[in-house]
Amino acid sequence: MNKKDKPIGVFDSGIGGLTVLKEIIKELPNEGTIYLGDTARVPYGIRSQETVIRYSFENTKFLFSKDIKLLVIACNTASSVSLEVIKNSIPIPVIGVIEPGAKAAVRATRNKKIGVIGTEATVKSNSYTKAIKAIDKSIEVLGLSCPLFVPLVEEGWTAGDIVTLIAKRYLEEIKDKGIDTVVLGCTHYPLLKKVIAGVMGEGVRLIDSAVETSHEIKTILDVIDLKREQKGIPLRRFYVTDSPERFLKVGENFLGRKIEDIEKITVGN
Ligand code: DGL
Repeated sequence: MNKKDKPIGVFDSGIGGLTVLKEIIKELPNEGTIYLGDTARVPYGIRSQETVIRYSFENTKFLFSKDIKLLVIACNTASSVSLEVIKNSIPIPVIGVIEPGAKAAVRATRNKKIGVIGTEATVKSNSYTKAIKAIDKSIEVLGLSCPLFVPLVEEGWTAGDIVTLIAKRYLEEIKDKGIDTVVLGCTHYPLLKKVIAGVMGEGVRLIDSAVETSHEIKTILDVIDLKREQKGIPLRRFYVTDSPERFLKVGENFLGRKIEDIEKITVGN
């Protein structure tokens, strides 16, 4: 196959990365995509770095065997701990979600005070803090993990009293600290954008890493001249490591479109 016509591979710990895939499809509608959701081993956000790196390697090996031209690590947790090692393991470009989100946050902040919300593993890794400070070390970064946001979104609870109350309880820790920008540092959080915006108040900008990552992918494909040239309907394939039912039920809401070509596979041992 012509190198340009190969698909983009995307992996996540499960369903959440579909928010990233959605933005990729919006930004690059002519590109084929293969998505792997490691639904049998989700969540990654509460696991050790060592385990997340191993899972990331196994997912990468699977997608690389599908002859992809570029790999996107859509999971914030996996990007936080495994991007560098994965980059060094395959001869194609690898893009994570941390750097694009960090760059956008640096552009957005006026008072140099940024909040980063994500899973425990992402916050603990300090990946966003490091990426933000690598651009401007005078910026203050406050990290906060919001572990209940993932199960709430998985349940489809993205609005209403309960989710607002939980968001208030978490975000009060960073709310009155003078932050003017908050990075939604987890695949699931864009679905809670309205609630988070409501709690944080009007003057606070929210940064969606998924949107920023799709811009970055477009730029890279332009620079390395690898945009798909064929004009036919692009590939939209999905793989999951557990039964597809739940993925289909919740996933179509995340993706905002029908999921048709899906198969259960095994990665690792
Ligand atoms: N995909 C994960 C992330 O963006 C959230 C779900 C999980 O913990 O695996 O960090």
